[in-house]
Amino acid sequence: MNREYWDQQADDWEGQIFDSLSEDLRGVIRRAIQRAARRSDRVLDFGCGVGGYLSFLSREFREVHAIDWSARCVARARERTRRLGNVTVERNTPRVLRRLEGAFGCVVAANVVIHPNAGVRRRLWLAIRRTARRGATSLFVVPSLESAQYCERVRRRLGLARVAGANDVRAAAGIVPIEGVPTKHYAADELRSVLAAAGFRLTVLTPVRYAWSSEGLAQLAGTRRRLPWDWLAEARAV
Ligand SMILES: C[S@@+](CC[C@H](N)C(=O)[O-])C[C@H]1O[C@@H](n2cnc3c(N)ncnc32)[C@H](O)[C@@H]1O
Repeated sequence: MNREYWDQQADDWEGQIFDSLSEDLRGVIRRAIQRAARRSDRVLDFGCGVGGYLSFLSREFREVHAIDWSARCVARARERTRRLGNVTVERNTPRVLRRLEGAFGCVVAANVVIHPNAGVRRRLWLAIRRTARRGATSLFVVPSLESAQYCERVRRRLGLARVAGANDVRAAAGIVPIEGVPTKHYAADELRSVLAAAGFRLTVLTPVRYAWSSEGLAQLAGTRRRLPWDWLAEARAV
């Protein structure tokens, strides 16, 4: 899940990468962004990918900045937002990060800190924190470990094939494959302490519900079971 990996995803992004903003069935991400926009007029989309959040952010904030470390993603995000006068998209480099230090009253990072290596994640959380002003609202969408475990239990009960690796020893550390790619999933308690270690105070934790088809379980649509979810963490930079 390095920079080359994300470069490779850029061309077939819509076929490969889950779009949390448009798949969020109850609109909790949009509402959280709208609440944050009342407190700040300048937002950073950290790890913007091909820019799935940018047109919505552009409507809600006066000024939108977006960074990603993948050149291919940046190119696609720029292309997608070329008619939006308040959006700037840049490659994430050490120089850009230094310039953006403490510059934002709102920071969004949706499914960005998901690398399987704990050191890579720790550095990334700290880099995100450095872009936020003290007191800034920060919105993080992350895969939920509880949801992954719940979906595995549902599969087992239905006698369906399990997700390869979902139960192996790494799953205990929250590393569960998505489409075969080892991906960090967060338990609610862990998320609180990880954010605290990076200089954020968790204020609200909300499940972002998705359709069963997102887990390859479309046959469960319309049943009364709880739907799968990501976590949306709203936090304050302290
Ligand atoms: C799953 S995608 C999410 C993209 C976007 N936030 C969205 O929700 O559509 C993860 C993105 O994080 C970016 N990323 C990962 N590590 C990064 C880093 N250190 N700096 C900037 N971008 C990073 C990747 O290049 C990729 O585009």
